[in-house]
Amino acid sequence: MARAAALPPSRSSPTPRLLPLLLLLLPLREAGAQDGQVQMPPEVRGLLGDTVKLPCHLLSQGPKVNVSQVTWQRLDPSGKTQSVAAFHPSHGLSFPSPQFSSERLSFLAMGLGPGARPSPEMQDATLVLQGLRVEDEGNYSCEFATFPQGTSRGVTWLRAIVQPHNQADAQEVTVGSEPVPVARCVSTGGRPPARISWFSPLNGEARESEVPGPAVGTVTVTSRYTLVPSSQADGAKVTCKVEHEAFKEPNLLPVTLSVHYPPEVSISGYDDNWYLGRTEVTLNCDVRSNPEPTEYVWSTTSGDLPASAKGQGPELIVYSVDRLANTTFVCTVSNALGMGRAEQVVLVRDTPRASPRDEGPMVWGAVGGTLLVLLLLAGGALAFILLRMRRRKSPGGGGAGGTGGEGRDSGRGSYNPKTEVFENGGPVYWTTAPGPLRPDGKDTEEGFEEEEEKAEKGLMLPPSPALEDDMESQLDGSLISRRAVYV
Ligand SMILES: *[C@@H]1O[C@H](CO)[C@@H](O)[C@H](O)[C@H]1NC(C)=O
Ligand SMILES: *[C@@H]1O[C@H](CO)[C@@H](O)[C@H](O)[C@H]1NC(C)=O
Ligand SMILES: *[C@@H]1O[C@H](CO)[C@@H](O)[C@H](O)[C@H]1NC(C)=O
Repeated sequence: MARAAALPPSRSSPTPRLLPLLLLLLPLREAGAQDGQVQMPPEVRGLLGDTVKLPCHLLSQGPKVNVSQVTWQRLDPSGKTQSVAAFHPSHGLSFPSPQFSSERLSFLAMGLGPGARPSPEMQDATLVLQGLRVEDEGNYSCEFATFPQGTSRGVTWLRAIVQPHNQADAQEVTVGSEPVPVARCVSTGGRPPARISWFSPLNGEARESEVPGPAVGTVTVTSRYTLVPSSQADGAKVTCKVEHEAFKEPNLLPVTLSVHYPPEVSISGYDDNWYLGRTEVTLNCDVRSNPEPTEYVWSTTSGDLPASAKGQGPELIVYSVDRLANTTFVCTVSNALGMGRAEQVVLVRDTPRASPRDEGPMVWGAVGGTLLVLLLLAGGALAFILLRMRRRKSPGGGGAGGTGGEGRDSGRGSYNPKTEVFENGGPVYWTTAPGPLRPDGKDTEEGFEEEEEKAEKGLMLPPSPALEDDMESQLDGSLISRRAVYV
């Protein structure tokens, strides 16, 4: 861009004194591409088959300069040169190379071809090449023979680029112990060859191969993402990244891996509280499988299902629990690759379990834990608010030893403690105030002790004499004033 801007129109060109300054200001000037008087881009890229322009300008030297000839030469890596185009004011145009006949080559602004008007100063030697071929790639010099300054030249690297077509897919594989390609990424017909890499959460490696592409001079690159196929890899997402200079941004191609494996089975839903006469109990057969399961079979280790039980796909329903259900249930799942099974030992009791504390330890544990945290948070917030209200309402006696009747009253008024105890009636017991049951430590109900500790840890409030006073005052009588959750 900067070069184009600096191109001097010949007649209103800058004076020679300004020129060195202008050259210094050209930011993209690269050593070797020019000798300071010929302006050329160091590299020109064209898509195969397209028309490319090889710009070449002689920076104006003022009216005294007389260009006697312009020559384009191809520079072989061996050092040999081959003339491809020339223009002489009196001898005209010449395209001596058979590879670059006048059908493919022309000067943009020189010669007598249609549309081309010779410029009197011959400062624009830009060459136009049609139908770019792979074998056109190379370094080209553009040379001005001038009088009286002599010869000036620059060099441009012409490169033929072909944009590849990219595609990525998963390779359906079966679980095994040897590494196999699980995803494939193909970049077809690039020039130069595309660069392929993978993003993956898995510990695989890429194996790459190159073959000639469909068009001459192009390359097809194939990268195979390879790992030991496990059932964990099934459904994993990997991404193929293709980089090529014809793309502004790398191409990202997501692939979801597919590993076939026999069903992996587990049984859920057992609550360890099956008792005689209980109705509608269910067990679930949980399966990971690729391909999808074709069949679920429920049985027991002693044979068939008891009459009161019925398998419905992944679900087993026991309509009424009897002694025959006191067994080990088996779920067997098949898919196209094989079978998987899981067992569940069921203990049938005569009566429901006594304590709800033991009921479904996992489930209630989770629910209770959540409630505990929520209650503690709420309790902490409540205590904090109470504390602040009390401080505000009894300005003088916040920390006094529990004798301030006014403070106590206001505390009661807003606090209004209430005990709600569900004795053996539900899984969660709670009361409304934080803190120990008895500040004097006379709490004798051992069941509450652990919970008290938990509650205190969770409360995270600094100990407050005022609050404790409050508690104590509310503990008169039989009020239980603390927070505990039982599961
Ligand atoms: C440039 O060369 C042409 C002939 O090629 C000549 O007629 C002309 O006078 C020359 N001009 C200068 C400035 O040397
Ligand atoms: C052209 O020249 C550059 C350095 O100037 C070199 O890196 C490149 O390989 C050359 N290209 C060919 C095709 O010779
Ligand atoms: C179920 O079996 C266990 C022993 O496996 C036994 O202790 C229990 O009494 C049985 N339950 C019933 C209801 O028979």
